[in-house]
Amino acid sequence: MKDTNKLLRNLKSLEGPFPKFDPTNVPSNPNELFQEWFHIAIKNGVHEPHSMTLSTINSFGHPDARVLILKDIDEDGWYFASSSNSMKGQQLKMNPNVSLTFYWSLIGRQVRIRGTSLRVEKELSAKDFLERGEVARAIALLGKQSKVLPDSKVLEESFIKQIERMKSEPNTVDPHWCLYKVTASEVEFWQGDRERKHIRLLYRMENNEWIKVLLWP
Ligand SMILES: Cc1cc2nc3c(=O)[nH]c(=O)nc-3n(C[C@H](O)[C@H](O)[C@H](O)COP(=O)(O)O)c2cc1C
Repeated sequence: MKDTNKLLRNLKSLEGPFPKFDPTNVPSNPNELFQEWFHIAIKNGVHEPHSMTLSTINSFGHPDARVLILKDIDEDGWYFASSSNSMKGQQLKMNPNVSLTFYWSLIGRQVRIRGTSLRVEKELSAKDFLERGEVARAIALLGKQSKVLPDSKVLEESFIKQIERMKSEPNTVDPHWCLYKVTASEVEFWQGDRERKHIRLLYRMENNEWIKVLLWP
């Protein structure tokens, strides 16, 4: 324990060098700036830049969070996919308020999105499902995400059955598979700085318009 503490204290963070960010010269819409940053993340070799943390609220009013894959982004919002029967799916049914967090350490950038999630049309969810690989579809079709697994043998047997089913019925769609869209009310772009004078630009939706403000680091 003592060693871990020492190790932690000696670990460096936000060493840089990082790309420049001029918050006075940005698009009027955060979705556009997100896409600019996303492309910069890819160009700079950020590992899995489409991984993000989705935070939700459970039935006790407690926060819950997990990592997911960003499936799409357009002028309407950010998209992710999961089973509507999962823990997060049940939480989203009760409370659609969510946040999404991205951290791209290689370029010292964090993006925080606060908003509400909405299930998109069934056809788009089905399309997303059918674009998944065979193994990912078979796993989803098990339909038990976040339930207690009594024994890993049970998983193996059920998985083999679903893979066989995929082969004989390749167009099967999991009825619970769902593509969710997050419509943002606030988006914060955070550019880390070695000197800790981090740049924070917040877009806030007010009266149907995006307002931009800077935040203290
Ligand atoms: C890199 C990464 C990507 C993931 N992508 C997804 C995803 O796109 N959809 C999903 O349902 N779970 C994904 N997961 C698994 C989730 O983190 C989580 O374990 C699962 O969705 C169950 O969450 P829940 O119990 O809150 O519903 C991913 C995990 C990691 C580490």
